[in-house]
Amino acid sequence: MKAIVLNLDSKEKISLTDVQESIIGPGEVRVKIKAAALNHRDEWSRQGLYPNLKSGIILGSDGAGVVSEVAKGVDTSWIGKEVIINASINWGDKQSVQGKNFEILGMPRNGTFAENVVVPVDRLYQKPDHLTWEEAAALPLAGLTAYRALTYQGQLEDDENVLITGFGGGVAQFAAQFALALGAKVSISSSSPDKIKKGLKMGASFGFDYTNPNWVDKAIEATQGGFDLIIDGAAGDSFNQLIQVCKPGGRIVFYGATRGNPGKLEARRIFWNQLKIMGSTMGSDKDFRKMIQLIEQKEIHPVIDQVFPLEKAIDAFDRMRAGEQMGKIILKP
Ligand SMILES: NC(=O)c1ccc[n+]([C@@H]2O[C@H](COP(=O)([O-])OP(=O)(O)OC[C@H]3O[C@@H](n4cnc5c(N)ncnc54)[C@H](OP(=O)(O)O)[C@@H]3O)[C@@H](O)[C@H]2O)c1
Repeated sequence: MKAIVLNLDSKEKISLTDVQESIIGPGEVRVKIKAAALNHRDEWSRQGLYPNLKSGIILGSDGAGVVSEVAKGVDTSWIGKEVIINASINWGDKQSVQGKNFEILGMPRNGTFAENVVVPVDRLYQKPDHLTWEEAAALPLAGLTAYRALTYQGQLEDDENVLITGFGGGVAQFAAQFALALGAKVSISSSSPDKIKKGLKMGASFGFDYTNPNWVDKAIEATQGGFDLIIDGAAGDSFNQLIQVCKPGGRIVFYGATRGNPGKLEARRIFWNQLKIMGSTMGSDKDFRKMIQLIEQKEIHPVIDQVFPLEKAIDAFDRMRAGEQMGKIILKP
């Protein structure tokens, strides 16, 4: 079958390759992929930024498709079902944190950028009827990350003022949509005027350009004192600006560090203002189920940026690297 594999010796670091189908192990199923979606993780893998990367791994955490084969002993009624795949594997028993066997589909385990993928049967969820294949593929990793950051970690309450930073990002899109669906007053930030316009059209109350240092004063004025909750995936030196725009007693949840570690941290403002700063990573099976419920109840449609055939995966990865996307980038075998 055709797949996008990590090829660290090649110029582009990934290549479309003919690979052997994976063998189905106990408790596993084969899913014929209808659509897959990129996450920044795939591009970080391409850039060699994770330990133990090996050429030959099929990348891709997100996918949706049709079950074509099940291992001996697995319920055969799965065959022919339309499913989405939860990329969060072996979370473990605790809601508060993943266990030490936790892994993410698509490195080290072969992922979804292929014609077929083999996954444990307990990673399958029925595809919500209102979603297209592209929308269903867009959902799992970024949707789960956004949902847990807002709810379990962020403890979002309706009517609260929430800031979602870097609205162009995949997780940020979902965070904004979910926060709106949960009744919050949502503001967004972005480096792109076009993306800000789209966020306002989607229902955000305010949009701020985080590249303009004045945005901090503007945000405090617009919200009459700052945000109750901030969801961020960038970190870096601008993290101190988030500490400034967070209301006394407020919460900041960060799930990524696209801009690296902050050079310094305004510790005094954090303790004086009684801020809670939390980290969040993907989510438990309970978070995933609740996220799907919200998607179904509110008929939320993930925002799709562009759809590329598997053969054009390098263009899709380059688009993510350049940060040009607005929503999820999709690959179709
Ligand atoms: N912990 C987890 O479970 C988890 C899960 C998913 C992702 N992540 C991490 O979270 C980050 C985002 O992932 P993603 O897949 O959503 O990536 P993505 O779709 O590539 O989003 C990147 C976005 O970051 C925004 N950004 C860049 N610099 C910023 C800054 N200084 N302040 C605010 N926003 C800034 C940009 O938004 P604009 O274009 O609007 O300016 C850009 O579009 C990555 O670092 C990823 O590795 C972690």
